[in-house]
Amino acid sequence: MPGRCVIGLQWGDEAKGKLVDLLTKEHDLVVRFQGGANAGHTVVVGEEVYKLSLLPSGILTPGVTCVIAGGVVVNPAKAIAELDELAGRSVEGLQRLRISDRAHVIMPWHFAEDRVLDKSTGEAENIGTTQRGIGPCYRDKVGRSFALRFGDLYRSDLRAKIEHRVDAKNRLLSVMSDAFEPLDATAIYNEYRGYADRLEQHVCDTTELLLSAAEADKKILYEGAQGALLDVDHGTFPFVTSSNSSGVGVPAGAGVPPKHVNHTLGVVKAYSTRVGGGPFPTEQDNQDGQYLRERGNEYGTVTRRPRRCGWLDAVAVRYTARLSGADSIAVMLLDVLSGLEEIKICTEYEIDGVRSRDFPTHVDDLRRVTPRYESVPGWAEDVTDCRSLEELPENARAYLNRVSELVGVPVEFVSVGPGRDQTIPAEGRPLVAATA
Ligand code: GDP
Ligand code: IMO
Ligand code: MG
Repeated sequence: MPGRCVIGLQWGDEAKGKLVDLLTKEHDLVVRFQGGANAGHTVVVGEEVYKLSLLPSGILTPGVTCVIAGGVVVNPAKAIAELDELAGRSVEGLQRLRISDRAHVIMPWHFAEDRVLDKSTGEAENIGTTQRGIGPCYRDKVGRSFALRFGDLYRSDLRAKIEHRVDAKNRLLSVMSDAFEPLDATAIYNEYRGYADRLEQHVCDTTELLLSAAEADKKILYEGAQGALLDVDHGTFPFVTSSNSSGVGVPAGAGVPPKHVNHTLGVVKAYSTRVGGGPFPTEQDNQDGQYLRERGNEYGTVTRRPRRCGWLDAVAVRYTARLSGADSIAVMLLDVLSGLEEIKICTEYEIDGVRSRDFPTHVDDLRRVTPRYESVPGWAEDVTDCRSLEELPENARAYLNRVSELVGVPVEFVSVGPGRDQTIPAEGRPLVAATA
């Protein structure tokens, strides 16, 4: 089974980072294939807490090659800052990082555009981006004329390319915002030449690297960022990110054909969260939501914004599991639900009196949904020390079975805390050695 991917099935922050870190040991390479430093993956190793935005979560495991593939938009300053932080914390073998020469580079004008554009919409249309320049960089990639790829940083015409783009962007941005300070092409050229020199040892043709590795039967783990409901084509558009963050994005972003990806693990939080704008049918803007937020420490890794919280939405997760081709799911943060007398799961959507298990295409229809819930009894016990399914309270096991039944996919892992060892594999699955 050479190719496996880990995909968030909600709106991000499902604890993909924890799972990727855990599964890395079974693989030779770990690949980020979309998104950029908008991601925030927290990985807990013993007493150490690592927060990774751009580097694959596999970077914490020695001996594994980590790849930032062509579908990622790379902020080079962030890549350097994360490498330096890890080096300062004695993480070894950082030279194993590979960055695609096809990956597009986030430039200063992308941050400026992200700020100006996200503010220019009314509240109803405000996406509430992470302000990391992600959308503007992807827009320039697809628009082609103003793009810069990593490989361009090493070409003799880099200065001319930057001057051309700065000239155009200065004119554009000064029309869009009175507060915009024009950018200086020479300063940007010098800054990015410095980044390019520093990262040169890591830059290569990662498509060739991954094709050769897959053909040689190396084990490759593809690490999704964001979640399938934030997928630009298949999520809750326009309240999405700008890449294909569901399972359908793996081949294009990584640069490998679909036949090399033969197992998809969907990651599901035991409840739901969302950061930023957009409809969220099962949101609980009340005591229940507050309970989940405090117990789950639901504050953004990147922006520290309080995450919106609500019940598990089985209609949405069934859709994203099917869309992503999930072969199994991991149910994360189950421990957060302890202490609730009753737990709700949304099993159907009702729009204009019609009940359905289909996920609506249009965001206005999603806004009009009345979620129909099933209530299941909760459990009082703390489950953070449980290490097998048998040790879980009966009601917790019943909850997992019901989720699996509604989503239509077996549960492969259950997570009961942030630590590597706080992970329960499904029966019959050998436990990934969880060294602290
Ligand atoms: P990601 O973006 O999908 O990698 O998820 P985040 O790292 O943004 O958010 C998940 C948070 O939950 C992190 O702070 C993890 O350390 C934490 N976490 C992971 N698994 C569990 C779990 O089973 N229980 C609890 N309580 N926290 C967990
Ligand atoms: P991880 O990988 C949660 C959300 C933002 C915003 C929308 C668009 O940690 O799960 P963007 O900056 O991408 O243009 O913002 O997407 N968003 C995330 N929400 N987790 C993430 O990543 C996210 N990355 C982007 O809040 O609503
Ligand atoms: Mg996150």
